[in-house]
Formats: sequence, structure tokens, C-alpha cells
Amino acid sequence: MIEIKNLSKTFDKANILNNLDLTVKTAETKVVIGRSGVGKSVLLKSIVGLMKPDSGSIKINGVEVTNLSEKAYNKVRGEIGMVFQGGALFDSLTVAENVAFVLNEFMNLDKKTVEDRVVDALAMVGLKGIESMSPSKLSGGMRKRVSLARVLCMEPQIILYDEPTSEVDPITADALNNLIIELRDKLKVTSIVVTHDMNAAFKIADSIAMFYHGHVIADGTPDEIRNTTHPVVKQFIHGEAHGPITEDENLVFGHVK
Ligand SMILES: Nc1ncnc2c1ncn2[C@@H]1O[C@H](COP(=O)(O)OP(=O)(O)OP(=O)(O)O)[C@@H](O)[C@H]1O
Ligand SMILES: [Mg+2]
Repeated sequence: MIEIKNLSKTFDKANILNNLDLTVKTAETKVVIGRSGVGKSVLLKSIVGLMKPDSGSIKINGVEVTNLSEKAYNKVRGEIGMVFQGGALFDSLTVAENVAFVLNEFMNLDKKTVEDRVVDALAMVGLKGIESMSPSKLSGGMRKRVSLARVLCMEPQIILYDEPTSEVDPITADALNNLIIELRDKLKVTSIVVTHDMNAAFKIADSIAMFYHGHVIADGTPDEIRNTTHPVVKQFIHGEAHGPITEDENLVFGHVK
């Protein structure tokens, strides 16, 4: 469904993405992990066409999208919903207008259908009845959920989630993770989920890819990643900050090589 090959992006001479390869199968949830600043959001923005890679290929459903015109990309965008890291809501619009935004801008639906989808989508993220509020009055986690509702009402084939559960309390986070699983199982949604929450990653992922220095250094099932012997991946999933892994640390974790 999503096939990325040799993708590169440089900012101010820093190779953020460096010949990155990543494949996401239909109805698969691919979790992407990696240190802050490694280029996870840059990748998602490149997939939805908000950022142009320097080189490489992104195929969505077999269609090369890196060289599409803005007009042609809008068609592809109807199939891809992105939940932005910061919510990306318009404070000048109400919650309902934000959720309906993509439907009103890019899809030709009647008013009643739009209204129904907005109400349903807000209910799915646990935010019933806040349609007329301004996003500026909402907490960070609520804004994130409104951003997810905006994606859900598009009923897209692909959803890209940029840290969907950061700023969200643990109970709501678990409910959102369950929703991600349900969308895959019931609607066969294909998704990429960027998260720093390793428990969530292991729970929702069909596969987990770790970014490091511009490319993917590990890609496997949750069990394969959990049992990895790769020192960098191991250090990351255990959240250890004090330098490279030593033999002593392996002993502390209880699995000596
Ligand atoms: N528009 C931009 N112009 C210049 N540099 C950028 C731009 N967008 C991202 N970068 C740089 O690219 C790098 C990767 O950024 P990105 O937002 O993808 O990180 P990330 O992996 O999502 O991190 P986090 O986990 O903190 O969200 C950072 O060093 C950032 O400063
Ligand atoms: Mg990011």
C-alpha cells in the first residue's frame, strides 16, 4: 500500500532522511520509533505531500506521488488522513468546522452527511457535544482527538498518526490505541503510527521500524523488536540514556548475550 524507496531529505546540510526504505502492507499497522529529531514527522509530511523529498520514491497504491501536481495530489490526499503532532486545528473555526474541513474542501458530500459524519467521528474519539466550541479552549489531548476525528470522518484507506497519544491521559490513550486496532481490523485501514510510547507500540503494531541516522535500522514484528540484540534498538526500547550498552547493562536487563 505504501512503498518508500531511497528517500532522502536534507535540511541545512543535515541528511535527515538518507536513502530510507519502508514498506507498509495493506491493513497493516506499522509503528515508527526513533529519537527526537530523527525525521519521523518529516517522513509523514513527505507522504502526504506537505514536504518535498530531495530524491527517492513514494508509491501509494502503486502510484508514484513525489512528482504529482498539486491538483493530482489532492485526489491522493482524500485517501490519506494525517493526525498531526500538534493537532493542526484552526482556532478561528469551531470544532465541528475543523472536523468537517476536509469533507467541505475536498469531497462533494451533502450537508446532512457531513453533519452526521462529524457527530459520529467526535463520538468515536470520546468528544460528544463539543461541536460548537473553539479549539483554543481545549486541552492538548482534546485537540489531538479533534484532529483524529477530522481524519476519521474522511473514512480514508490510510491513516498516518504523528504521536496520537502524547498529551493524552493513560486511559484515553489506551482507548485511542484500541480504536487504532479496531480501524485496522474492521475497516482494513493501513497505518503508520509514530509514537514514543513503547507499551502502545507493542500493543498496536503489526511491525515496528526504528529510524536511526536517516534510515531504518530494524524492522520486525513486536516480538522480534522486543527480543532484538541490536544494541541501538535495545537501548532505545529500554529508554536507557547513559551511553552505549555495556555487558553490565545486559545483566541488569536480565538477558546476557
Ligand atoms: N521545515 C523544516 N526546515 C528545516 N528543518 C526542519 C524542518 N522540518 C524538520 N526539520 C528538521 O528535521 C529534523 C527532523 O525533524 P522531525 O520533525 O521529523 O523529527 P521527529 O523525528 O518527528 O522528532 P520528534 O520525535 O521530536 O517529533 C529536525 O532536526 C528538524 O529540525
Ligand atoms: Mg515528530
